[in-house]
Amino acid sequence: MSLLIKNGRIITATDDYVADVFVDGERVTHIGPALRQQADTVIDATDKLVIPGGIDAHTHMDMPFGGTKSSDDFDTGTVAAACGGTTTIVDYAIQSRGQSALAGLDTWRKKADGKATIDYAFHMIITDMPDERITELRRLADEGVTSCKMFMAYPGVLYADDGALYRAFRHAGEDGTRVCLHAENGIVIDEIIKEAVRDKKLAPVWHGRTRPTRMEAESVHRAIAIAEVARAPLFIVHLSSADALEEIKRARARGVDVEAETCPQYLFLDESFYLREGNGGFEGAKWVMSPPLREKWNQEPLWQGLALKHLSTVATDHCPFFFNASWKPGDPPPARPGKELGREGFTKIPNGAPGVENRMALMFQGGVVEGRLSLNRFVEVTSTAPAKLFGMFPKKGTIAVGSDADIVVFDPKRTETIGVANERTHHMRVDYSAFEGITVKGYPETVISRGRLIVDKGSVKTRGGGQFVKRARVGQLLR
Ligand code: URP
Ligand code: ZN
Ligand code: ZN
Repeated sequence: MSLLIKNGRIITATDDYVADVFVDGERVTHIGPALRQQADTVIDATDKLVIPGGIDAHTHMDMPFGGTKSSDDFDTGTVAAACGGTTTIVDYAIQSRGQSALAGLDTWRKKADGKATIDYAFHMIITDMPDERITELRRLADEGVTSCKMFMAYPGVLYADDGALYRAFRHAGEDGTRVCLHAENGIVIDEIIKEAVRDKKLAPVWHGRTRPTRMEAESVHRAIAIAEVARAPLFIVHLSSADALEEIKRARARGVDVEAETCPQYLFLDESFYLREGNGGFEGAKWVMSPPLREKWNQEPLWQGLALKHLSTVATDHCPFFFNASWKPGDPPPARPGKELGREGFTKIPNGAPGVENRMALMFQGGVVEGRLSLNRFVEVTSTAPAKLFGMFPKKGTIAVGSDADIVVFDPKRTETIGVANERTHHMRVDYSAFEGITVKGYPETVISRGRLIVDKGSVKTRGGGQFVKRARVGQLLR
């Protein structure tokens, strides 16, 4: 199969020029003006942007969590991702407590292999790391899983104490693995939650009010200090507040190897969503996620953090759960249990929200259209930087001869209003949209994954065919 994309404006993290792109099989083989190659398929990209496929380095497909499991699997979730212009995800596999991390990888490979439509890689969530298991980090890296995630939040579930962090950092640094951290002080937060529950403060708004930004900033600060002493590269996931961002800035200014991602929800939504009326005061559960949505004033510092490179990437933390609006206490459990599990109290609301389909359009709107990010920086934060940080560059994250043909033809003029009832913006298997009603200018039109036409003029052309990406170690290239 060959493809010729004609006359598009090619944007990478560094370049901006008009040319044709020729794809032979899975890779880009020629780029230049007026290419004469004969192709099976010709795509006219006049007046369109031709950008590297998005890389969403933080998703949770088919994940057991909060008494249920996330509602998108690797089939529905990766089709939705493709429709939104993302051609690679890095999902979080889980090591079950007391079990081998390699067994966890096996479980997640089985969930994805043969099901995914776009390419996928895995980080490994480490729940415990006794000495006899620590060598598994190296074996995971040999398998192409060159990052792991640990939690300073969720005590008793996924929480790792400072000693476990230090030991993991020591080994990760030596093995060429990047440690990703969920930085919230779960121990203190649990105490605050106990006080709220004792005082019968059980509505969704208390999810946000029990997780102050200081407890995020404190964890970021502590994690940086531990990683610095252990001499390991650190990556803070889903950073949500200006308070936490200040810690990143301070550390980077003194040369610490710490990078951070933020997410569209922290750039577009705010804590007032928890007070939204409807569904008997439970509407706010749609946005119960950790860290929670913050006061609106945090948004501009985060955008500025992206523009000035204090923040490196934007991922979704896609972790959808059905809202099940019509379910009433006493009814049999809904087909896909979700947010209603917390009707009696916010502590039982499964944490997470959908977004894998909306990231590229939202970032183009808030970044490029609204003048906060250049086109090059938009490509960098949504594709190139995650490829580089997570060992997939230059195979992925750019448009260059020899790179995988993961390409999005993006129409900068097409307008869409994101919503659960808009079938052009919602393929995710979940009954609400976290970004309902937001209008974006600019939308993916054609999406190519390793040379396969997945989405053409908005309609899905094929499913399946996604492959596992065996990632390189920190600082190494993948070809
Ligand atoms: O609320 C969230 N973020 N759910 C997904 C799990 C995690 O902490 O990333
Ligand atoms: Zn997390
Ligand atoms: Zn997450």
